[in-house]
Order: sequence, then structure tokens, then C-alpha cells
Amino acid sequence: MSILVTGGTGYIGSHTCVELLNAGYEIIVFDNFINSKPEAIQRTKQITNKDFKFYKADLLDRSAMEQIFTKNQIDAVIHFAGLKAVGESVEIPLRYYHNNVGGTLILCETMAKYNVKRMVFSSSAAVYGNPATVPIREDFPLSTTNPYGSTKLMIENILRDLYISDPEWSIALLRYFNPIGAHKSGLIGEDPNGIPNNLMPYIARVAARKLEVLSIFGNDYPTKDGTGVRDYIHVVDLSLGHIKALEKIMQTSGVEAYNLGTGIGYSVLEVISAFEAASGQKVNYKIAPRRAGDIPECYADSVKSKKELDWVASRDLKEMCEDSWGYINKLASFKKAGRPL
Ligand code: NAD
Ligand code: UFG
Repeated sequence: MSILVTGGTGYIGSHTCVELLNAGYEIIVFDNFINSKPEAIQRTKQITNKDFKFYKADLLDRSAMEQIFTKNQIDAVIHFAGLKAVGESVEIPLRYYHNNVGGTLILCETMAKYNVKRMVFSSSAAVYGNPATVPIREDFPLSTTNPYGSTKLMIENILRDLYISDPEWSIALLRYFNPIGAHKSGLIGEDPNGIPNNLMPYIARVAARKLEVLSIFGNDYPTKDGTGVRDYIHVVDLSLGHIKALEKIMQTSGVEAYNLGTGIGYSVLEVISAFEAASGQKVNYKIAPRRAGDIPECYADSVKSKKELDWVASRDLKEMCEDSWGYINKLASFKKAGRPL
């Protein structure tokens, strides 16, 4: 079976390509490298010892999309390509709507034209807005607090309407919680440009002495220790969830949303101490004001994914921290040796 992976050189995309190749799928990958590097292609091949076709292409380029569908036999699409920085989406919302929503429209139109009607879509827990209670179930009310989240919710609605118009479509909306960690090889992982926005890459750089101190955004939330609580999930577990979702959409038609989280919430302070234990490094931190738009607590109810996808996350916070640290070290050794990673 042949799967088109959009955004396949990105953080979650590259890990999912590894799991797809390991599971015996043939993959065709494209990316425009707006937030990733070509090296991910070679690393993915190196980890799996398997080959695949790659196109440098933009989702917004209709003729490039058509060429990919003309030249390849495609059974289903896993759609990762999109911009994902929450803060940036507030500053340049039109770019986010254009790229994420506009790009998905072009992808869906091309898929329909070539009669490919199966898709696994990267949605986000951002579509739950500020949930009234936790754990969060898939049938909770949907709302958003920033343009990035709004693009995800709009795309979910577009995909639902698409199915209503043509019941041959089979679509899984995967709502990710907080992916962290890296592949055990240390060859692929997340290395954001500039100062990281997210907790784990920030902690890793403080531990590696690339940044001086972590600001904890608020310690007065109504949570176990006052700091924000999130559902961190190992990126390899998350990737395996895509394989299960793929199996599901090949057997059924319809649109279904699934949470991909562990169901466990950890506070910022708990993540810091788990990282210190895993790395043997001190993580300096200071308490700073709350970050605008942050919610106190967010973690998944993972019953539906377990029941309907036969998927559960099995890697714990210790392993997530060890693998994030392993990747940072490998990255440093490659940079020192003057080799790109
Ligand atoms: P990422 O930025 O590492 O990967 C996205 C990839 O898409 C990048 O390689 C980028 O170059 C590519 N891309 C973006 N726009 C494109 C376009 N127009 N044409 C072609 N390629 C394009 O991000 P990620 O963390 O791997 O996230 C993958 C998906 O999962 C995204 O849609 C993201 O919104 C979603 N998601 C991520 C998280 C998270 O915390 N990482 C949480 C929830 C949802
Ligand atoms: N945090 C800090 N200091 C930092 C960075 C983060 O204290 O330097 C705290 C945040 O306040 C929050 C927790 O660490 O309590 C996690 O923050 P992240 O930025 O790592 O992740 P978020 O939960 O804010 O956002 C993530 C994704 C979004 C997605 C959202 C909902 O980055 O794309 O989950 O799924 F929309």
C-alpha cells in the first residue's frame, strides 16, 4: 500500500515515515522545507534502511500536487504539512489561514480529482480551546483561542462537510496533545530555529547550556503545584497512532476524531525534574508571569483511541526526556564534526 505523506520531513512527519517504512508501507513524501531540513530524508532512510520517493513541493502549488498524483499510485494521504507556531499565528494570521486552510483545500481538491479519498489529518488539542473539565473527551465542545487553532478547527469542519457531500471519504482527525522526545537513534528529532517556544526544546537547551534559564510561565494556576499541566506524549507513540488510524480508515468510511495523548497530566515542575534525572544536568529556572493564552490544564481522555484504534501510548515521561536529551547530544556531536543533521 502506498501512502502520500505531506510535511514528511518535519518533526512528527519524519518519525511517522520511519514507522510507516518499518510497517512495510511504500511512502511518497513531500515538503517545502519551510520548517525542516533536507537532511531528514537521508536520516529516515538511514534508520530504516529503506528508500522512498521525495518531492520538494509546496501544498499551495496546485500543478506540483497534480504532478505527484499523476506520477504515483496513492492509496491514502497522511497530512502533516502546516505552520504550527501559536504566537506567530497571532502576528501573521493570514499567512496561517492561507497556508494551512488554503493548502488543505488544494490537497483535497487534488485528492478528489484523482479519486483518493482516505486521509489522516494532523489536528490538535488546540481545538478544545479552554476546556471546562479534564480529561478531555472527543465529544467536548470545540473552540479556539488563536488563529493556529482556528485553522485546525476550520480544516476539521471542511473535512466533515467533504464527507457529507461524498460518503466515500474516510478521514481520521488526530488531535495531538504535547508531542516530545525523539527517535532512539538520535538521528531525527525537533530542533526549532531561534529561541524555542515550547517547553521541552527550551528545557533541553538550558540543560545543554545553550540557554541560561527557563522561565516558568506562572506558578499560581489551580493545578497540583501551581504550574501548567499538559499531556506529554512520546513522538514515536504518536507516530504509531498514525499507523493504527491508517488501518482504521482503510476499513471504514466516515469522519472520526481521536485524541492522541497518554491521559496523564504532568506539571512544568514535574517535567523539569524528570529531565534533570534523565540527563544528569541541572535545569535553571525562574518563575515568570503567565503566558497570554495559556490554559491551566490539558490532558486527554484516551478511551476512544484505545477502543476504536486499538492504540495506547506506552512510553513514559522518563523515556521521553531520555530520548529528547539523546537527540540534543547527537545534534551537538554532528554540529561539532561539521556535519549537518
Ligand atoms: P513541523 O513544522 O516540524 O512539520 C510540518 C512540516 O510541514 C514542516 O516540515 C514544513 O516544512 C512543512 N510545511 C509547512 N507548510 C508547507 C507547505 N505549504 N507545503 C509543503 N510543506 C509545508 O511540525 P510538526 O510538529 O511535525 O507538526 C506536524 C503537524 O502536526 C502540523 O500540522 C502541526 O500543526 C500538527 N500538530 C503539531 C503539534 C506539536 O506540538 N508538534 C501539536 C498538535 C498538532
Ligand atoms: N512553558 C513554560 N515555559 C516555557 C514554555 C512553556 O513554563 O518556556 C509551559 C507553558 O506555560 C505550558 C507548558 O509549559 O504550561 C507547555 O507549553 P508548550 O508551549 O510546550 O505547549 P502548549 O501546551 O502551550 O502548546 C502545545 C502546542 C500547540 C498546541 C497546544 C494544544 O505547542 O501547537 O499544545 O495542543 F496548540
